[in-house]
Amino acid sequence: MKSETTGRNTWKSRTGFILAAIGSAVGLGNIWRFSYLTYENGGGAFLIPYLIALLTAGIPLLILEFGIGHERFGSAPLAFHKISPRWEWLGWWPLLFTMFGIVLYYSAVIAWCIDYLFFSTTLAWGDDPNSFFFNSFLQVTSSPFEIGAIRMPILIALLVVWVVNWIIIVRGVGPGIELANKIFMPLLLILTLALVFWSLTLEGAMVGVSAYLTPDFSKLSDPMVWVSAYGQIFFTLSLGFGIMIAYASYMPYESNMTGSAIITALANSGFSLLSGFGVFALLGFMSANQGIALEDVVQESIGLAFVAYPKAISLLGTAGPLFGVLFFLSLTVAGISSSISIVEAFVSGIEDKFAINRELLATLLCLLGFAGGLIFTTQGGLLWLDIVDHFINNYGLIVAGLLECLAVGWFFKIDIIRNHLNKVSKLQLGTWWNWIIKFALPIFLSIILVNQLFRELL
Ligand code: PHE
Ligand code: NA
Repeated sequence: MKSETTGRNTWKSRTGFILAAIGSAVGLGNIWRFSYLTYENGGGAFLIPYLIALLTAGIPLLILEFGIGHERFGSAPLAFHKISPRWEWLGWWPLLFTMFGIVLYYSAVIAWCIDYLFFSTTLAWGDDPNSFFFNSFLQVTSSPFEIGAIRMPILIALLVVWVVNWIIIVRGVGPGIELANKIFMPLLLILTLALVFWSLTLEGAMVGVSAYLTPDFSKLSDPMVWVSAYGQIFFTLSLGFGIMIAYASYMPYESNMTGSAIITALANSGFSLLSGFGVFALLGFMSANQGIALEDVVQESIGLAFVAYPKAISLLGTAGPLFGVLFFLSLTVAGISSSISIVEAFVSGIEDKFAINRELLATLLCLLGFAGGLIFTTQGGLLWLDIVDHFINNYGLIVAGLLECLAVGWFFKIDIIRNHLNKVSKLQLGTWWNWIIKFALPIFLSIILVNQLFRELL
């Protein structure tokens, strides 16, 4: 659907826009990264740096990205061009570097989830999910350059992921992305609530939950805990990619943008916290059932989803397949609603610059995405994934966020954006917001970057 006055694609409703923004934000990271970070970094005490990072970096920057997209009325490259032609590159480079990497591996992981959805029905991983995942399923080699054969089940699932991405993106903003998220988000909530309540009824669940949340305040003096909190906030809110800029540019004029940013951020963090109960309840059950200490069953990210969870699912006996299907379906849904947001950021950036029609563009990008993703279906795939993930998470997003703050805060009249947001939103931003964008965020983000570099070099 295009606006009659502006010719730009638009959301059908503000709810649709917010659901799409939440769809982008809520992804694999909420389910498998947040709970582990919390557990690792002081349990309940980690919520303090996490909340501070949310309030001082996540929400102000999400407001900034919504403001840039809505006020300048364009996807990231066009919006930065309208800030100053000198800054147009700032819209492009996250698209070309960070996002390309992310969408390729993100889609490959969604493909694994689809495969595991099917494996769940027969508990195909047997007694040793670890060896099943690394040796039978991925057949990982020791060098990223030893490509080896392409794994068929992964290839087929990857094709499915890109076909789904393509169908949604080709249909456009309202009938595609908005509609998909109106189905996916309620579905994801129902799946997650079912999994959380189910997990909480299992024996030993409370051991897990207490490990997840029991505060260890001594951790708060460790600077790395704070760096992790800020790093997680960027990734979790899909900031520094231009996604939120593109999504906001599809919002018609009268709309409470500041309020939408806050709802999106709170829903995303709420979802993380909620799913953490499920993750740790299940790990607690596994620990009690096997008589293994909790710290020995806890894993993060890929290890959590493809090794620890399959193991626990097997222990559920006849209920295992149902649990597995629900879990891997929830990962798939959370993943797809994020992957489409990345593809859309590309489409809108290119559409705004060159007069290429959307269908052609979406088709080319999805073909390219599928072809590029093939690297992650090879035997060296997991190693590539770690490399790409490392650079994107530790540098890509943070550098982009830092430059956004500098571009708008120092080389543009930030009050233009703030006044605009205040005009369309009920919630009024004070000048404190300017201070955060101009000073606080650039300082925090520089500290994080320097810290990462030092850790790398020393
Ligand atoms: N926000 C997503 C998550 O937490 C990750 C993501 C980042 C998705 C950027 C799309 C774009 O999993
Ligand atoms: Na997220």
